[in-house]
Amino acid sequence: MRVVLTGAAGFIATNLIPRLLARGDEVFGVDNFFLGRRSYLERSLAHPRFHFFEFDLLKVEPLAEVFAEAKPDLVWHVAANSDISYGTAYTDFDLKGGTLVTYNVLEAMRRSGAKQLIFSSSGAVYGEPTVMPTPENYGPILPISLYAASKVACETLISAFVHNYDMRAWIFRFGNIIGPYPTHGVIYDFVKRLLEDPSQLKILGDGTQAKPYVYVEDCIEGMEFGFTNARDAVNCYNLAVPDQTSVTEIAEAVIAELGLDRRKVDVHYTGGSRGWRGDVPQVQLDTTRMTALGWKPRLSSADAVRRTIAEVVAQFRSGVIS
Ligand SMILES: NC(=O)c1ccc[n+]([C@@H]2O[C@H](COP(=O)([O-])OP(=O)(O)OC[C@H]3O[C@@H](n4cnc5c(N)ncnc54)[C@H](O)[C@@H]3O)[C@@H](O)[C@H]2O)c1
Repeated sequence: MRVVLTGAAGFIATNLIPRLLARGDEVFGVDNFFLGRRSYLERSLAHPRFHFFEFDLLKVEPLAEVFAEAKPDLVWHVAANSDISYGTAYTDFDLKGGTLVTYNVLEAMRRSGAKQLIFSSSGAVYGEPTVMPTPENYGPILPISLYAASKVACETLISAFVHNYDMRAWIFRFGNIIGPYPTHGVIYDFVKRLLEDPSQLKILGDGTQAKPYVYVEDCIEGMEFGFTNARDAVNCYNLAVPDQTSVTEIAEAVIAELGLDRRKVDVHYTGGSRGWRGDVPQVQLDTTRMTALGWKPRLSSADAVRRTIAEVVAQFRSGVIS
């Protein structure tokens, strides 16, 4: 397939690109390095079927040019501001970097005749639901961050474009995705801070915040599986694992992986039930629809966390991550 991949230098895309190239796809990647990293792209840049374009997806002209050249069979749209805290600090951040960017991608698709879109949404769309695990048809959807509000807006725009312009879309509401080549996130953060200062670790909240952590390969295989097997015009699925891991469990596992003497690390909590405003402290996503389709993750949350910590520590130590 010919694939336009937005957010090509980010965490999920860095893990996705080698898979797309290995299966024979021609990949047209776009990123502005707002959160993504040039070093992560390097291993793909030399590949003859990978083409990279550096610009901000808020700019419609270069985007139209990429679509005209690529004539994509599939648009894999993962670019967004993936850091919730920016959206709290600047109220138009997710509106522009999430919603408007997604509108631009949809409009480029409409103008160029591209018909198929995979979109990375988030379980954050549910806000603080009263039903847990939360199914896709839970409502009313009342997000508590501007990041999640933007994901809801993107989903509704996608649905409207699909129905007006004969497109098809696969929307995946992720749990927390983890694995090698992170750009940010709790594991990245804890490893980095403990390598800088092994004597202490500050944890936001009370450490009981717990989420389903999904290994990035499971996430990518889940999206591929959904794309192949879900046949509606708009397909919307939770993509997660059944178990959760707490922030304290992650901190303890990072300390152990780094080989630190636990008694010499001062772990202190800022307190309160959530890490930051807009953070959903307890997340459980109902994955019955994905499993009914035939998809099964290989790793539990506990295994994904263990494996990722080992990989991220190794990548920091070898200089792949800084
Ligand atoms: N990683 C997770 O746990 C998680 C959970 C739920 C949803 N998601 C969603 O999945 C997608 C990918 O997440 P990720 O963890 O790989 O994030 P990431 O930040 O590592 O990757 C996103 C990439 O998009 C790029 N980008 C952002 N705005 C851009 C713009 N205006 N123009 C060009 N490039 C731009 C960034 O530079 C970055 O490389 C995001 O949409 C995110 O919201 C991720």
